[in-house]
Amino acid sequence: MVTKAIIPAGGLGTRFLPATKSLPKEMLPIFDKPAIQYIVEEGVKSGIKSFVVVTGRNKSVIEDHFDVHPELDAFLESKNKSELIEGISKIVATSNFIYVRQKEPLGLGHAVWSAKHVIGNEPVAVFLPDDIIMGKTATMAQLVQVALQEKCNVVAVQEVPMEDVSRYGIIGVRKQFSPNLFQVKELVEKPRVSDAPSNLAIVGRYVLSPKIFDVLEQQHIGTGGEIQLTDAIQELLLSGEKVFAVKIQGERYDTGHPMGLLKANIDYALRHPRHAETILAYLKSLDKDFVVMQGKADALAKPVGSLVL
Ligand code: G1P
Repeated sequence: MVTKAIIPAGGLGTRFLPATKSLPKEMLPIFDKPAIQYIVEEGVKSGIKSFVVVTGRNKSVIEDHFDVHPELDAFLESKNKSELIEGISKIVATSNFIYVRQKEPLGLGHAVWSAKHVIGNEPVAVFLPDDIIMGKTATMAQLVQVALQEKCNVVAVQEVPMEDVSRYGIIGVRKQFSPNLFQVKELVEKPRVSDAPSNLAIVGRYVLSPKIFDVLEQQHIGTGGEIQLTDAIQELLLSGEKVFAVKIQGERYDTGHPMGLLKANIDYALRHPRHAETILAYLKSLDKDFVVMQGKADALAKPVGSLVL
């Protein structure tokens, strides 16, 4: 069983300033829910009961979101609108939330290590909250299944264009079992294109053996001057543990960047049972304008001599 998950949420979210000056980036909305709620929902669907959120300063509204709110409940009930918070209320009623402070900004590996004392001696799921995955099945549920079947560590991966490999942790493949399942030979954090063992990039979902905490404890500073989770998983591999990789099905959004967050908003709205039609009509109306704008751009691109003045 994998029942505990770590969500490192200590980042400052500087790409979204000034919006994130006082609001944690994990609380930025994707349509009608804060980004971190999608992560927790995926966790709940995957059997996770306890979420350990690794936070820093200015993150206390995350705690408020995953908490009871009796006044709001009473108000919505009196207006017959309880369904507006049904989803989050159910999560709050059935899951545990534990908050741990990352005392120094020493990177992802350090953030995960900060949760060591609340995890104990059992495999743990890790969710990077910037990576939102929309699909039919919960990605973490697939990772958990492989971890339990193979008694191994598991990372989620996605193919990326070769020129982008230096933005990710990249795996090398020892063996491919099916189109979406691999045994990992090596893991390299943010390699140069010439050093990358493949174009299979790690996306933010992991199931890790508890030995990861001992490895992280000894871990040296890696790429970007930070303690890297990828380096620690590579150490696990060298120590004889198995690592598998599951290729994600569904769409991944890097909501750590404004464009990724915007795309997630649009795509989620287009899937929303109540709002899809309105948003589609709006996007179509924009498209009409784009045709006009494209016409203008084409005219402007023509050499001056050809313009009829
Ligand atoms: C982190 C991990 C990297 C992974 C990426 C996925 O990098 O270190 O291995 O590929 O998340 O989003 P970051 O994006 O924090 O630099």
